[in-house]
Amino acid sequence: MSELNNIALKIIGDGKGILAADESTGTMSKRLENVNIVSSAESRLTFRETLFSSDSMKTCIGGVILYDETIKQTGSNGKKIPELISNASSVPGIKVDTGAKVLANSSDEKITEGLDGLRERLKEYYKLGARFTKWRAVYIISKDCPSKLSITSNAHALARYAALAQESGMVPIVEPEVLMDGNHTAEDCLKKTSEVIKKCYDELILNKIELKGTILKPNMILPGNKSKEKISSEEIAKLTLECLKESVPTEVPGIAFLSGGQTETEATENLNSINKHNNTNFIMTYSYGRALQQSALKFWSKNTKDIKGTQATFNHRAKMCSLATQGKWSQDIEKQDN
Ligand code: 13P
Repeated sequence: MSELNNIALKIIGDGKGILAADESTGTMSKRLENVNIVSSAESRLTFRETLFSSDSMKTCIGGVILYDETIKQTGSNGKKIPELISNASSVPGIKVDTGAKVLANSSDEKITEGLDGLRERLKEYYKLGARFTKWRAVYIISKDCPSKLSITSNAHALARYAALAQESGMVPIVEPEVLMDGNHTAEDCLKKTSEVIKKCYDELILNKIELKGTILKPNMILPGNKSKEKISSEEIAKLTLECLKESVPTEVPGIAFLSGGQTETEATENLNSINKHNNTNFIMTYSYGRALQQSALKFWSKNTKDIKGTQATFNHRAKMCSLATQGKWSQDIEKQDN
């Protein structure tokens, strides 16, 4: 079990965080088409390989979450993608859920699927080089949501997934994402996120998960994206820390936030504030998808031959996020480094 704890610390320790590059083919195709790039197995690989070969992989990216397609692909230098990532002393990981589907007897809510056959798929991913895994549950905030049904069903699935991941020798990232969509207040988000996370740990404990060998990937506590409420980064940090302090067992080594629709700078600034005020024993870092890739993707889409320029854009973002894990980021550094 200490082996799983070591893997977790390798991924999120020393000012490093996670690059979430596990967009499903559907999601990645939308992102590419948005910047006028035709989505194909080849274009998806080229962009991702460009990021995985950049210098900041060694210093800022402790782990990369891959999608099924990518973990099986071979890069332009003839190396398998997991090997490319390990060679940069980062840890290859894999998204193992098969997506969120409509939850029966609920109109708007979702349940994440993928438990059937999971033990066998995990064995295959381990052989391909993965040492950690991810499963994402999603919850919406509205008057009656997330419902008890959604909170209970998703926590149950997350715990059964985490047990199987640990059985296979891989660290489970447990991701209960309370979406920022809506006009709710930050206080609503705090209340509902705390309820969701507490239920997840009830189930994880029931399923005998060794918490030291896990990583939590939650949302930050924010007002809804359609809410008129505007709060400071300091306030976001205070509410986020309050939520995690009361909901997460102290054995958990670290927390790697998702960016969830925040801009790159917002996600960096908020993480920086969280670390400036971190009064917990948890490592607080990033597991960003959009907030690490957006500028790099935009640059690449206009300069597909400029690998160095794309990597420089990504390196800057990764460096800013890494500084934020130490509470050392500022707007000035953001501008100077660019
Ligand atoms: P974002 O940081 O873009 O929210 O993606 C993180 C992620 O892995 C969602 O599952």
